[in-house]
Amino acid sequence: KEVVLSGIRPTGFLHLGNYFGAMRNYVRMQDEYNCYFFVANWHSLTTHPDTKELQSAVHRVIAENVACGLDPNKVSLYVQSDVPEIAELYLYLNMLAYKGELEKTVTFKEKVRLNPENVNAGLLTYPVLQAADILIHRAVKVPVGKDQEQHLEMARNFAQRFNHRYGDVLPEPYAFNYGGELIKILSLDGNGKMSKSENQMNTLYLADTDDMLRKKIMKAKTAEAPAEPNSVKPDFIENLFTLMSLVSTPDTLEKFNTDFNNCVIRYGDMKKQLAEDMIAFVAPIREKAADIQNDKALLSSIIKQGAEKARESAAATLKEVRQAIGMNY
Ligand code: TYM
Repeated sequence: KEVVLSGIRPTGFLHLGNYFGAMRNYVRMQDEYNCYFFVANWHSLTTHPDTKELQSAVHRVIAENVACGLDPNKVSLYVQSDVPEIAELYLYLNMLAYKGELEKTVTFKEKVRLNPENVNAGLLTYPVLQAADILIHRAVKVPVGKDQEQHLEMARNFAQRFNHRYGDVLPEPYAFNYGGELIKILSLDGNGKMSKSENQMNTLYLADTDDMLRKKIMKAKTAEAPAEPNSVKPDFIENLFTLMSLVSTPDTLEKFNTDFNNCVIRYGDMKKQLAEDMIAFVAPIREKAADIQNDKALLSSIIKQGAEKARESAAATLKEVRQAIGMNY
């Protein structure tokens, strides 16, 4: 079976962008592939040095993943810091990563812009740690949203350089989505991607109450109905249709699409329908996640089991890596 890996940073509640871009694929992939999914708590230290909330945030991500349908007996669901082998591979890969290319990374430049006070070396080498996460299991498919595309390209470059210098050990990983194209869910105001740190009113969280979901969706940006039949949808309208395709029936989606194409769409009605369907989708996940998060014994057994499986695979790769470099004395 091909190896699959993906990770999520524990920097806040998970949202519909995370679900649609990444987690939805995890759940489908668990039956077909040998899967590793993890919580990237080292990565979160690059931007969130305060660790007061970190433990509960890690538990929350694990709980939300299980609530969305990941089965800890089918996949390895683990916490990054429980697998020290990753840190050693990160060290080797750092010697193959150039300062210039790291400084040019889009996510790095964005984080420097947002927080020029804390441009630490961990932030600069973030893509190297991400490559180590992937290559440590020799994963070839990485289900992620569109924003991670450049990081995957960098991981392929590091793997190639390693193989070129030391011999063929690390396969090249590719970003994956069942639909083909990688996904980017927009913020509800249409400005940029939906994210954990954005204005909370423009992000739909898996933990939101029914009322909150309704309120946010009713406030989502819309426009006048189109003047010409079969117009191209503005991206913020397309985004509402994308969300609808996730949670509503095909008939509902079809109805509003037809209304749009005939220039008779009523966005108020569309948002009302979307809100009700979103609530029906999110409420059971929210409740299940809360139950799991309160069950500390269950959480720690999931995390322990996940780490054991992940370390086994990581140790096997690291052994070959050390041999290839000549670090087997
Ligand atoms: P993170 O924690 O920001 O996001 C987790 C996953 O959710 C996807 N995502 C989105 N997809 C579509 N639309 C959006 N608005 C949206 N927002 C987030 C992300 O693409 C991601 O798949 N660097 C990674 C974590 C990571 C990782 C890895 C991922 C660390 N090591 C190894 C894959 C492989 C990150 O910050 O994701």
